[in-house]
Amino acid sequence: MVLTGKSIVLGVTGGVAAYKAAELARLLVKAGVRVNVVLTEAAARFVGPATFQALTGQPVWSDLWDQRMPSGMAHIDLTRGADAILVAPASADFLARLVHGRADDLLTTLCLARPRAGVDGATGDCPLLAAPAMNVQMWQNPATQRNVAQLIADGVTLLGPACGEQACGETGLGRMLEAAELFDDLAAFFQPKRLAGKRVLLTAGPTYEPLDPVRGLTNLSSGKMGFALARACAEAGAAVTLVAGPVSLATPRGVKRIDVQNAAEMRGAVLQAVEGSDIFIAVAAVADYRPAQAATHKIKKGAAAMTIELVANPDILAEIAARPQAPFCVGFAAESQNLADYAEGKRMSKKLPLVVGNLVQDGLGGDRNSVVLFDANGQHALPPADKLEVARGIVAHIAALIGKQGKH
Ligand code: C5P
Repeated sequence: MVLTGKSIVLGVTGGVAAYKAAELARLLVKAGVRVNVVLTEAAARFVGPATFQALTGQPVWSDLWDQRMPSGMAHIDLTRGADAILVAPASADFLARLVHGRADDLLTTLCLARPRAGVDGATGDCPLLAAPAMNVQMWQNPATQRNVAQLIADGVTLLGPACGEQACGETGLGRMLEAAELFDDLAAFFQPKRLAGKRVLLTAGPTYEPLDPVRGLTNLSSGKMGFALARACAEAGAAVTLVAGPVSLATPRGVKRIDVQNAAEMRGAVLQAVEGSDIFIAVAAVADYRPAQAATHKIKKGAAAMTIELVANPDILAEIAARPQAPFCVGFAAESQNLADYAEGKRMSKKLPLVVGNLVQDGLGGDRNSVVLFDANGQHALPPADKLEVARGIVAHIAALIGKQGKH
């Protein structure tokens, strides 16, 4: 797990969303993160230190003059050796104070005194992330927007805010992200940006080829591997478009999703989106055949047997790989036997630089996968892991191959 063993200072400022910070602390601790919570005075009015202390197993800090730290310098020591400060929720007032380099309470002083790589005398790097939470009018106020722009220019990473219903009853931008989203964003923050500046297009999931208005041909692909890869590409800094067959999975954060039903629609969406893509990863289990006719009305029961005529679907991946300015194309080979022969055969016949092979019994529908990568240099097995971890391994391999291509 990306966050295991990390040390995070979780700053909490005064806002209703402070209750989500308690859940975030719990998720982080569960993932093996050491969490030191720092509350502002206003935050402690919403959620008390006892809650955070119980959740993190660590002392909770809020007073600049706290003498519990042996050095007496909590404002320095808490960020030395920490991997990041995450302030969630970050109120409008806190952002304003951060912009001005204020140091009039423990949390602002910690942020100001955090070590930054490359700065004289810095013994480490403690990046600052903030998850804004405020009323929509406060968020959209030019003063806040000026502050936000300045914080981004100063190297602060903002997570959110989201749009939605607010505690005050109004609706709009300003809601803090949910704890699970902040957890995912923090994990993504620590991923190497191997695909920064790249545009990635993926297909994922099964296709559904209609036979009549209520029946069709499909397969058992869950879409989980494709969605995990879309997330891993986004985490690696790419701009990601995901063309998804019928699955009910949540869209990975920051990914543009286009939903389709059948192979023809998937092909259409891919052809529309492929222009300008650097990488195309075809993870979808596209139906090889579709019913020659889709009946307008429900087919009625009749004869003892019936024959359905099937016609071949277009091979989307082969078509994209054959384009004159083809992106770097990655195929998947899900086989039930002879993995190496079939995967390498697919790589050659579709003229792909990389094929990801897996045995269906290892991955189909489940949360884990065990894959072998086939490229011009041979086979490389990735260790069996959950699909997101496998996806990160595939992204690292793609980035390395693209890097080598670029050098020639
Ligand atoms: O030839 P086969 O279907 O086994 O190839 C699998 C690979 O080709 C996968 O990457 C899949 O997404 C892609 N494919 C496609 N369009 C099809 C069939 C497969 O893009 N019609």
